[in-house]
Amino acid sequence: MTEEVKETINRLIGRFPKKESALLPVLTLLQKRKGYISENDLKDISGILDVPEARIFSTASFYTMLRLKPAGKYHIQVCTNVVCALLGSDAIFDYLSKKLNIHEGEITPDGLFSIVAVECLASCGNAPAMQINMEYHENLDTGKVDEIIDSIKRREVGG
Ligand code: FES
Repeated sequence: MTEEVKETINRLIGRFPKKESALLPVLTLLQKRKGYISENDLKDISGILDVPEARIFSTASFYTMLRLKPAGKYHIQVCTNVVCALLGSDAIFDYLSKKLNIHEGEITPDGLFSIVAVECLASCGNAPAMQINMEYHENLDTGKVDEIIDSIKRREVGG
C-alpha cells in the first residue's frame, strides 16, 4: 500500500469517532483504486484500523459490491436466488458462461468480462436480473443477454 493511500485512509479515519467505523469507506476506497481488495490490503487495513483481519475479511466478503479477487472491466453478477432461479437464472448464467467462454469467478482473456452468481439483487419484481458494474439489467432472456453483451463489445471495439 502506497504512502498516498495510507494518507487518504488516515484522512477518512479522521471523519469518524472510532477508527473501526471507517472500515467500509476504506474498503470502498481500495476497491475503487484497483478493482478489488487484496490479501495484503486486508492485512494493512487490520494494522491501520486496529481491527482483527478476520473481521475485515467477513465484512469485505459479505458485501457483493466489494471484491476479494480481480475482476473484468465489466463485472457481471447474475442473481441465482429463489425468484430469479424460478424464472430461469440458472439457464441465463449457463448461457453467459458459454457465450463468454468463462466459468464462475473467471475473467475473459481480454480482461473485459468476469462473471459470478450472487444472492438477491433486490430486483425480484423484474426477475431474472443481473448487474454489470453499477447497472441493472432485468427481465432477462437469452436474446436480451446477447443484446447487452454484444453492445458492450461493440462499444469497446469502437473505443
Ligand atoms: S431473487 Fe433475484 S433479484 Fe431477488
